[in-house]
Amino acid sequence: MNTLFIVGTGPGSMAYLSPAAREAITQSRHLVGYQLYLDLLGELAIGKEHHAKALGEEIDRAHLALDIAAREPGATALISSGDAGIYAMASVVFELLDKEARPEWQSVTVNVIPSPTAMQLVAAHAGAPLGHDFCTISLSDLLTPWETIEARIHAAGQGDFIVALYNPVSQKRDWQLNTAKDILLQYLPAETPVLLGRQMTRPEEQVRTLTLATLSAADVDMLTLVIIGNRESRAFQHGGRHHVYTPRGYARKLESHT
Ligand SMILES: C[S@@+](CC[C@H](N)C(=O)[O-])C[C@H]1O[C@@H](n2cnc3c(N)ncnc32)[C@H](O)[C@@H]1O
Repeated sequence: MNTLFIVGTGPGSMAYLSPAAREAITQSRHLVGYQLYLDLLGELAIGKEHHAKALGEEIDRAHLALDIAAREPGATALISSGDAGIYAMASVVFELLDKEARPEWQSVTVNVIPSPTAMQLVAAHAGAPLGHDFCTISLSDLLTPWETIEARIHAAGQGDFIVALYNPVSQKRDWQLNTAKDILLQYLPAETPVLLGRQMTRPEEQVRTLTLATLSAADVDMLTLVIIGNRESRAFQHGGRHHVYTPRGYARKLESHT
């Protein structure tokens, strides 16, 4: 049986390519992906057949990967940045398999291979902001109606979830992030910690800590991941560094024992 690996390569640096992802790429003769992500693989991509497609052609890319995997013996890898299952290529492939269900694709075994998502790198850099229940919301309304996104932001605020915002702005839109901030301010204090993680694990990496009141779309670009704490999240300094964490509730547990 032929194999299609849908491989997440992590947020940028090869240091965060998971060993399983490295193994899947090594095994594959054909690599399908956006050229920048193939280039970032460096030596790992050498000697393999590259099938690069432009950004934004996700359906074409998924189609191509399935067609190559069905045609070529052995393994093919569809390359996606971060985690391949989080706002990425894996769901496009499964939607095609489900809805289009071409007979020739039946011979392909599809395996999704994870690597860390951008949110995890921002969280790790700051400390432990995701120490309690959290959710992720993409602010891109290209594929999701804004009413749905807005309802989810309200639900996150009502549920006191820590929120990670993917696709916070794009070249054509930035009002969504300011609107998300205004919605969350209905549920959270103005001093709630906010993290802006830009270009994580790449040479341009930058992480800033601010508050919900001072969050502004003007300070954010499309290569940024935003984490907004919950009511319990705290920012403090230790050893000259800014940290943010969300307690798991041990303080309450200790109090009840005394
Ligand atoms: C279409 S989503 C892809 C997410 C990716 N699959 C992942 O798991 O990280 C693109 C968004 O992810 C975030 N992102 C991806 N890579 C990033 C990085 N290296 N640093 C900061 N944010 C990143 C940004 O919010 C960007 O707008």
